[in-house]
Amino acid sequence: MNVYDSERMGEALNTAGYHPVDTPDKADMVILNTCHIREKAAEKVYSELGRLKKLKDINENMIIGVAGCVAQAEGEEMLSRAPTVDLVFGPQTFQALPEMLEELADNRADALEENGHIKKAKGVVRTSFPAEEKFTTLFETPRQPLVRSPAAFVTVQEGCDKFCTFCVVPYTRGAEVSRAAAEIEAEVVSLAQKGVSEITLLGQNVNAWLDAEENDMGLGQLLRRLAQVDGIERLRYTTSHPRDMDDALIEAHADLPELMPYLHLPVQAGSDKTLKAMNRKHTAEDYIELVDRIRAARPDIALSSDFIVGFPGETEEDFTATLDLVKRVTYAQAYSFKYSPRPGTPASEEEQIAEDVKSERLARLQDVLNAQQVTFNASQTNETLEVLFEKQGKKVGQMVGRSPYLQTVHVDADETVIGRILPVKIEKAHANSLSGRISSI
Ligand code: 5AD
Ligand code: SF4
Repeated sequence: MNVYDSERMGEALNTAGYHPVDTPDKADMVILNTCHIREKAAEKVYSELGRLKKLKDINENMIIGVAGCVAQAEGEEMLSRAPTVDLVFGPQTFQALPEMLEELADNRADALEENGHIKKAKGVVRTSFPAEEKFTTLFETPRQPLVRSPAAFVTVQEGCDKFCTFCVVPYTRGAEVSRAAAEIEAEVVSLAQKGVSEITLLGQNVNAWLDAEENDMGLGQLLRRLAQVDGIERLRYTTSHPRDMDDALIEAHADLPELMPYLHLPVQAGSDKTLKAMNRKHTAEDYIELVDRIRAARPDIALSSDFIVGFPGETEEDFTATLDLVKRVTYAQAYSFKYSPRPGTPASEEEQIAEDVKSERLARLQDVLNAQQVTFNASQTNETLEVLFEKQGKKVGQMVGRSPYLQTVHVDADETVIGRILPVKIEKAHANSLSGRISSI
């Protein structure tokens, strides 16, 4: 979501006369688009700001902005904690960037007049955003996409009403809002015309997407409609909640060849007691049954998940239930985290699990998940996979693409393959990627 939002900021700034450079030292403005989901992500912002301050000491005209959920959560406070910051704006306010820049320019002019120096100029803060306005201003402006890759993101839904007890998203991103089907389709058409062939639909709760005006159209139907768009060959969506995987969406996996056989379906934990305390509103068995139904619809689907270990109250027995669930489901890949208490969330007020217990459980879980990922990748050796080539690799003469299962695939080829979907015979499987040879061009 932040990658998409950053692209949108780039577009808004492009219209205001800015263009991207490769490194911060060449920039007139640097914006950190931040994440508040775990403490570690939030802390990184301040260490990064420390580095940027050094550049600003050399170029005092440089503008430093902090966007996203840390900005949303800290607001004005950020200006006093890090005086080097000029702009603070929340995740739903990036369209206002040109206007914020004008305000900053005025503040700088005032400071120059009053103190003979722009250093003391007042920063600009935009964090509040009424829900109705979020819907219209966030999405109404037609995009001028700066397409750099044949695979693009499109936000279809924002915010979350689920209130899992560990999570800040409902507070930082606000209430669930869906974008209208016609607008989404228009954006997909415009991306396809610019050469995009793969679209990933985004939302914190993407499968809760609903176009209430179009006969309660859900994500399954939306995917069917987007699969018809000329030039769109691959569709994906992320992130889903198990409770919103309805029959129409599962059927779409059975029927639509464009819908890629990969699904990120976070379960967080395997113990019913922990799931209840997390307010996930489903049991481990519900999740396993759901996975069985999805696999019946699309047998080769690769599954991915998020896990939290060391949630308050998690016993060794509860943790073992997570390991058992992982062994029953088997994942192609996964993300796992130590529980991180977040300000304002219910679970942060509970008695906490010791850090060394969390670390030990995380290591055990990751051993199992990594082994499953290695096995999954190895199962593709000698297979031929359709790969969409996206960009150059790190090595000279190497191109990088994605398999239908979202694996990174490296081949030796020239740039003419970028943007094409080509069959690749997989020769080697690594822990995090595959490599092979293009079978035919
Ligand atoms: N601590 C650890 N992990 C968290 N996540 C969300 N909130 C927390 C937290 N407080 C994880 C969940 C979620 C993913 C995006 O981040 O697993 O699915
Ligand atoms: Fe956070 Fe996802 Fe739960 Fe919403 S559904 S509260 S975004 S973990």
